[in-house]
Amino acid sequence: MDVIDIIVAKRDGAELAPDQIDWVIGAYARGEVPDEQMAALCMAIVWRGMTAAEVSRWTEAMLRSGERLDFSDLGRPTTDKHSTGGVGDKITLALTPAVAACGAAVPQLSGRGLGHTGGTLDKLESIPGWRASLTPGEMRGVLRDVGAVVCAAGPGLAPADRRLYALRDVTGTVESIPLIASSIMSKKLAEGTGALVLDVKVGSGAFMRDTASARELARTMVGIGRDHGVGTVALLTAMEAPLGRAVGNALEVAEAVEVLAGGGPEDVVELTVTLAREMLAAAGLPGAKDPADALRDGSAMDVWRRMVAAQGGDPDAPLPVAAERRQVLAAESGLLTRLDARAVGLAAWRLGAGRARKEDPVVPGAGVTLHVKPGEEVRAGAPLFTLHADDPRRFDHAAQALERAYEIDGGYDPLPLVIDRID
Ligand code: URA
Repeated sequence: MDVIDIIVAKRDGAELAPDQIDWVIGAYARGEVPDEQMAALCMAIVWRGMTAAEVSRWTEAMLRSGERLDFSDLGRPTTDKHSTGGVGDKITLALTPAVAACGAAVPQLSGRGLGHTGGTLDKLESIPGWRASLTPGEMRGVLRDVGAVVCAAGPGLAPADRRLYALRDVTGTVESIPLIASSIMSKKLAEGTGALVLDVKVGSGAFMRDTASARELARTMVGIGRDHGVGTVALLTAMEAPLGRAVGNALEVAEAVEVLAGGGPEDVVELTVTLAREMLAAAGLPGAKDPADALRDGSAMDVWRRMVAAQGGDPDAPLPVAAERRQVLAAESGLLTRLDARAVGLAAWRLGAGRARKEDPVVPGAGVTLHVKPGEEVRAGAPLFTLHADDPRRFDHAAQALERAYEIDGGYDPLPLVIDRID
C-alpha cells in the first residue's frame, strides 16, 4: 500500500477503504509512515472530513494499535464519563465515587490539563501522596476493592492516538470533529468500560464554542460507541461560565469534597447527579440507589476516601494553599449577567494553575475563587474574585484577563445547564 495514494485520495474528497485506514494507522504506529505524511493526511481530513464508516474504522484501527482492558469479570457493570473539558470542571471527583456508591464500577482514565482547561489528574495530584500512575494490575485491584479508580492511561492504550495527537497539536490539525471523536473514543474504548456517558461542553470555555458543532461531535462519538458495542449517551452542557466557584487544582478538590459532604455549589451538584443517573442507566442499573442520596448519606464520601487512600493519598491531609492572595473588587452594583469561562480559565492559568507545555509543573494552590456567579447580585466595592498564587508578580497579568470577563446589568439569557441529550 502506498501512503501517497491515501493522502491524494482524501485530498480529492474520496472515502478511504477500511484496509487503507487499517494500514495507514498501523504503519504510523510502527513508525513506518513518517510524521510529515501523516500530517498531510490529517490536514486533508480537516478539510474533507470523514464518513461515519471511516470514523468508526479509524477509531477501531487506533484501538487495535494497543491493548484493550477487560473488566467483564468484575461482578458488577462498568460505566464511565468523559468530559470534553471546561473551566472549573471538577465533576469527575465527586461523580466517580457517587456512581460506585450506587453499585456500578467506574474505571476512569483521565488526563492532565493543557492551556486554559484543567486536568483531573492535576487536581487529584494536589492531594498529598496521591499517585496517578498505576499498573494495569493495580488499576484492576483498586477497581475491584473500591469500585472506582481514576488514573493515567498507560503507554499500551491506543498508542497510535498518543503519537497522532502530539502531531496534530503542532500541525494545526486538532480542530476536526472526526479526528477529535476518534481520538477520544479510541482511549475510552481501550479502557474497557461497558457503558459511556459523554459530557460535551458548549460555550466560551469549551473546545466547541457553538451548539451545532458540539451536537455534531456528540453524534459522531455516540455512533462510534454504538459501532463498538458500548452503550454511549451524550449530554450537551453549558460552559459559558465556569462550573462552581473554584477554578484551580487544590481549590477544585476542596469544592468537590464539599459536594461529597452533601453541600457545594448548585450547578456542580446538579451536573454530578444528572451525569451519575445517566451512567447508572447506561450500565443497566436504572433502579439503583439515587446518586443524590449517595451524596447526602455519606456513602459517596466513603468511596472517595477509600479511592484516594488506595492510590497513596491521605484524604485527611490539608490541601496545598497558595502563598499569596489578592481580591478583585466590583466597580459597580447590579446583576452579574456574564462571566466568561475562557477568561477565568486564562486567569487561573496565568496564576500557575495550568501549564503551557506538557512537561511544565502546575502550582497546586493557584487559581481563582468566584464570589459572584451569573444571575447573582453584586455590590460596588465587594469582592468579585480572589486570585491565589505563590508568586505575587502573577496577579496583574491574571487580573488583566478578568477585566472584560464579566458584565453587570447586561442582557441575561443563560443556556440551561443541560442543553440536549443525544443517544
Ligand atoms: N482530546 C483528545 O483526547 N483528543 C482530541 O483530539 C481532542 C481532545
